[in-house]
Amino acid sequence: MQRFEGRTALITGASRGIGLAIARRLVSEGASVVITGRDEDALEAAVADLGKERASGVPGRVDDAEHRTAAIGHAAERFGGLDHLVNNAGINPAWGPLTELDANAARKIFEVNVLAALEWTRASLAIGALRSVVNMSSIAGTAASDNIGFYGVSKAALINLTAQLAEELAPAVRVNALAPAVVKTRFSSALYEGREEGVARAYPLARLGVPDDVAGPAAFLLSDDAAWVTGQTLRIDGGAGIRPVG
Ligand SMILES: NC(=O)c1ccc[n+]([C@@H]2O[C@H](COP(=O)([O-])OP(=O)(O)OC[C@H]3O[C@@H](n4cnc5c(N)ncnc54)[C@H](OP(=O)(O)O)[C@@H]3O)[C@@H](O)[C@H]2O)c1
Repeated sequence: MQRFEGRTALITGASRGIGLAIARRLVSEGASVVITGRDEDALEAAVADLGKERASGVPGRVDDAEHRTAAIGHAAERFGGLDHLVNNAGINPAWGPLTELDANAARKIFEVNVLAALEWTRASLAIGALRSVVNMSSIAGTAASDNIGFYGVSKAALINLTAQLAEELAPAVRVNALAPAVVKTRFSSALYEGREEGVARAYPLARLGVPDDVAGPAAFLLSDDAAWVTGQTLRIDGGAGIRPVG
């Protein structure tokens, strides 16, 4: 099945983890992809892994306006347009209770996790071919969590941004979000390393997520198979959300 033949997708934060798995999946279904990330060497290695004919990397910070313009311009020049955007890059540099949160850390989290998603969407629209957007939220955006409170606040804002943009951009562009639980990547390693079996007990499907668990749903939401789906946030949580408390 080649749902993305002739299409171009830009995925932010895709040199490893969930973003790279999404890029791999889209390429395997016919897409050309532009991927971003801060570390140039890691990005180059990811492009080599995806295949240079249909993948290209543009290094930079997701909250840098010049980088955004360069990456989106590159997608148009190299692959002739931009059909799909995945706002995947996200950070969480703060740990501890909200009452002790450094305001500058909070600003940075909001700029990277929320404002950047809005800016990438706006800039991608200017190319004129955008069909769909997927924003990478988190189950942390749907309930309270210990120690990563402002990250959750930002991911909740991203869920509302998704609904808001879906309403404003319909019918031309669909905008949806994904809300994964713990997926095994460098980003989340502190949440499970050394105690994976115990953490996995919270999940009816009896294991933690892996990046490919998110790539399939991302491809679905971006594709025409989801042509009548917009403004939604899909939980990808191994069933954790349905387990009764106690
Ligand atoms: N893993 C989980 O359990 C989980 C659960 C729910 C949601 N999420 C969300 O999923 C997304 C991806 O996370 P992941 O787990 O795949 O993390 P990861 O494996 O650490 O990968 C993060 C990717 O984003 C890039 N990146 C990080 N900060 C960036 C920035 N400021 N500007 C540009 N690129 C940046 C990284 O490359 P560089 O470091 O070289 O920039 C890397 O390519 C995030 O939005 C995260 O909040 C993850």
